[in-house]
Amino acid sequence: MSEINDNVILEAKNLGISFGNNHVLKCVNFELYKNEVLGVIGPNGAGKTVMLNILTGILKPTKGVILYEGKDISHHSVPRRCHEGIGRTFQVPRPFEKMTVLENIMVGGVFGAKLTEKQAKEKAVEIAETIGLQDKLPLFASKLGLLDRKRLEIGRGLATNPKILLLDEVGGGLTETEVGYVIDLVKHIKERGVSVIWIEHIIRTMLEGTDRVLLLAEGENVICGKPLEVMQSKEVSAVYMGGDEE
Ligand SMILES: Nc1ncnc2c1ncn2[C@@H]1O[C@H](COP(=O)(O)OP(=O)(O)OP(=O)(O)O)[C@@H](O)[C@H]1O
Ligand SMILES: [Mg+2]
Repeated sequence: MSEINDNVILEAKNLGISFGNNHVLKCVNFELYKNEVLGVIGPNGAGKTVMLNILTGILKPTKGVILYEGKDISHHSVPRRCHEGIGRTFQVPRPFEKMTVLENIMVGGVFGAKLTEKQAKEKAVEIAETIGLQDKLPLFASKLGLLDRKRLEIGRGLATNPKILLLDEVGGGLTETEVGYVIDLVKHIKERGVSVIWIEHIIRTMLEGTDRVLLLAEGENVICGKPLEVMQSKEVSAVYMGGDEE
């Protein structure tokens, strides 16, 4: 068993959260393995973003614990978790509009990874190559189109030097070709040794871009397994199509 546990980088145990009478997460359990891309699907309002906010410390769960590299980080602050290696993107990209692409990525390095300005700049240039924004470094973020904003969002997350990167719908609103680009980018990030949790509604991203898929619905982890098996499961059809098992 210890062999298996050594491969676990993050573990969510019995996570629950309520907003008044809205019991968004009742009991969520899952593990993220080292060097894995774990896809997360679930209907609108299922609590996927809430779960990311709990993992990063923005929201406090009403119950449950989060183990990161075997340690309970449930009470660590947002910046501490970021320094410890949990990076994220936001569902709605929110770059500093009046800063350049370079400066936006540098912010992640200076505040997230505690780099000096010089180090952060070198790192930002390298990240810009990775995310395909190397020719747009001097542009203001406000000038970027949606794909580039999503790329920048990923770049800002990468600049914090994460061991785990949490992606919240980075493919949303993109064209087929652009989605293909994001799938390749996530693969590349994984090859760099980063574990990824990737929330997305687009089926193709889950089938082509993840190692396992977790279905979140009714406040619980319903099923988790190989992407194709999960996508074709009766649990997924029941949740999305309202079908039942007769
Ligand atoms: N800070 C908050 N205060 C009160 N309720 C909240 C808060 N954040 C989220 N909720 C509620 O929690 C539920 C889950 O929201 P969440 O944004 O996590 O859904 P989601 O699964 O990410 O959906 P989508 O696929 O549309 O992004 C919703 O009913 C939402 O209104
Ligand atoms: Mg969401």
